[in-house]
Amino acid sequence: MEIIIKANYDLMCEEAVGFIHKSWQKKTNLVLGLATGRTPLGVYQGLIRLFEEGQMDFSEVTAFGLDEYLGLEANHPESFASYLEKILYQHINIKPENIFRLDGFPEEIENHCQEYENRIKQVGGIDIQILGIGTNGHIGFNEPSSSLSSRTRIKTLTRETLAANGLIVKEKAIPRYCLTMGIGTIMESGTVILLASGRDKSRAIHESVEGPITAAVPASILQLHPRAKFICDEDAASELTKKDYYKWVYDHKDKVDGYLKKLSQNRGRTKI
Ligand code: PGA
Repeated sequence: MEIIIKANYDLMCEEAVGFIHKSWQKKTNLVLGLATGRTPLGVYQGLIRLFEEGQMDFSEVTAFGLDEYLGLEANHPESFASYLEKILYQHINIKPENIFRLDGFPEEIENHCQEYENRIKQVGGIDIQILGIGTNGHIGFNEPSSSLSSRTRIKTLTRETLAANGLIVKEKAIPRYCLTMGIGTIMESGTVILLASGRDKSRAIHESVEGPITAAVPASILQLHPRAKFICDEDAASELTKKDYYKWVYDHKDKVDGYLKKLSQNRGRTKI
């Protein structure tokens, strides 16, 4: 687990964009899992910028939406499908056939969720899953008490989430249910990038990073992921007790290669 603390939101997004860009340079048919919500917005804007500058091409990239409200058609203005379309897809050259979404109006929920899982497997799995975090520690719409090995399925939204998202969904009939990739599904992604900004996320970040692994705080399962990155701004990181250590580790990360090179040059020269 890597805990990266940046001075502000823009730098946080820059870090995530840099990682995605580097990963794409190594694998142009990158498979992305994409969260909605406010937090990843800056990351998507950064990706659009790279595309506009000709530094990144999305023609081989595949994207999977992380979750969706149940009861909203894909073209509903408040659906997560149309949100991702508006803030990302329509600005880059991703092929429509490479965009996958959970359907808010599926004919049959279980089959639809299973097909979604199958699709992810067919493309070789998600390389990078982008996540936000709820103030209650949820990832995707996996609310507290979600099974830590759950798969894509229907969930009931908590009051807390309904209230938080009330800012986005202005309609009276806010959906009470959703479809979401499961925690087990998320855990199979190659790398997970969890983004958190603002003081209202600080408790959830502390509990996820430094607390016990528990279904009461779904993001805490990422402690078991071999390549999980928590990218936070100072406010979201404000309750972390080992903040200085995380910063120290991060500051030394880029120096590792140089150090190893020096070690190999000096191999055999040191006499005991
Ligand atoms: P937010 O949502 O990015 O809008 O804060 C995060 C989440 O609920 O997962």
